[in-house]
Amino acid sequence: MIPRRLAATRCRILLFVIAFLAGYFFEYTRNITFKNISSVIPHHHQTDEQAHLHPVAIKTLTTNVNFTVPLPLSTSTGATTEKLTQDDTQNNGPRANAAFVVLLQNKDLHDMRKTMRNLESVFNRKHGYPYVFLNNVPFTEHFKTHIRAMTTAPVKFGLIPKEHWSYPSFINKTQAALNRVDMENRNVPYGESESYRHMCRYMSGFIFKHELVQEYDYYWRVEPGVSFSCDLLNVDPFMIMKTKKYKYGFTIALPEFVDTIPTLWENVKRFRKLHPEHIAKRNSLEWISYDKGDTYNNCHFWSNFEIVDTSFFRSKAYLDFFQFLDDAGGFFYERWGDAPVHSIAAALMLDRREIHFFNEIGYRHGMYEHCPESPELQLKCACDPKDNVDWVQFSCLRRFLEI
Ligand SMILES: *[C@@H]1O[C@H](CO)[C@@H](O)[C@H](O)[C@H]1NC(C)=O
Ligand SMILES: *[C@@H]1O[C@H](CO)[C@@H](O)[C@H](O)[C@H]1NC(C)=O
Ligand SMILES: *[C@@H]1O[C@H](CO)[C@@H](O)[C@H](O)[C@H]1NC(C)=O
Repeated sequence: MIPRRLAATRCRILLFVIAFLAGYFFEYTRNITFKNISSVIPHHHQTDEQAHLHPVAIKTLTTNVNFTVPLPLSTSTGATTEKLTQDDTQNNGPRANAAFVVLLQNKDLHDMRKTMRNLESVFNRKHGYPYVFLNNVPFTEHFKTHIRAMTTAPVKFGLIPKEHWSYPSFINKTQAALNRVDMENRNVPYGESESYRHMCRYMSGFIFKHELVQEYDYYWRVEPGVSFSCDLLNVDPFMIMKTKKYKYGFTIALPEFVDTIPTLWENVKRFRKLHPEHIAKRNSLEWISYDKGDTYNNCHFWSNFEIVDTSFFRSKAYLDFFQFLDDAGGFFYERWGDAPVHSIAAALMLDRREIHFFNEIGYRHGMYEHCPESPELQLKCACDPKDNVDWVQFSCLRRFLEI
């Protein structure tokens, strides 16, 4: 017979051991998932039915990011820490010929309204830049009324022409459908989605051709559900683009899923050989390749946020690049995103100085965030720098800032 007190002690020891083992196992699984970051990063965009894609991967990821290394965020900001005055409610200074451009669906109404409330309050109530909303089906009257109610700035609604949202004639749709099933079986993000592919191709090659977008020199891409954490009333990113002659602006850079772009880089290499005249002298190839262009390191700007000089996308260099990639079929046979397409184009065809990191624009989309770290900007931003997207093993932003 074991005395009762001793039994209780044993029981406590057993519980302790179990708790210890459980804790150890938890740590262990955390460490496993930590190792291969390229395979757990979910993708951008959420206009589609897969808005809450891969919650497991996302959960894993957030517990595994190494936050301890500060970002080298010393690039100039143009932001000030002055308190607001009456004058700050209206932008009387020079303005750019620019607009927000949003590709979305009727069902995105409420997410979009939240984003507009936020964007108006931190930036646009002073600057009054117009919005252009685009959809491949007509917007409902309900949608339009409720969007218009969010801003005093001009608002335009456009329908995407069929020829910009359909298959090129040479695509074998049967094969494309088989590839989608295969990618779905391999759990490739958005691997199964046909509409996502049309969207990526549209953003890559057509959005700047839409009649409502054509008139603008600059656009700032916005997606439903994103948020902006910094006071930008005294910052006009469009004017920064214009005065500094920047062609492409971003806030987040991270690696692309390799399974979505198996042959993209091979095609990029063929294009470089075919069109050396389109490659900029002081390009950023070093940012996207560790071996002088032989392989792609998968770094890309997260293009759900981008501020662009549309003359870049309308240039012969970019149009040739898009046509070349479109002819290769990868938008449909694989799942090439507009993010790597825009990023590789910017890296190869722009001067390094024409690409700008907008550190002062705190931005969040889904689980990913850019939050400025400098003490000066922290006074203007409501975000936690610990939530920054930056991987110790694979820092696309750091690499970009260092080249
Ligand atoms: C990481 O994952 C990718 C995609 O699943 C795979 O191709 C690659 O070999 C993995 N890398 C390592 C170091 O395990
Ligand atoms: C995080 O990064 C710091 C600095 O490089 C390093 O000392 C630390 O070991 C890293 N932690 C993990 C969990 O990798
Ligand atoms: C299209 O792809 C399917 C599946 O691979 C193939 O059976 C068919 O012959 C292809 N059609 C053409 C016209 O090449």
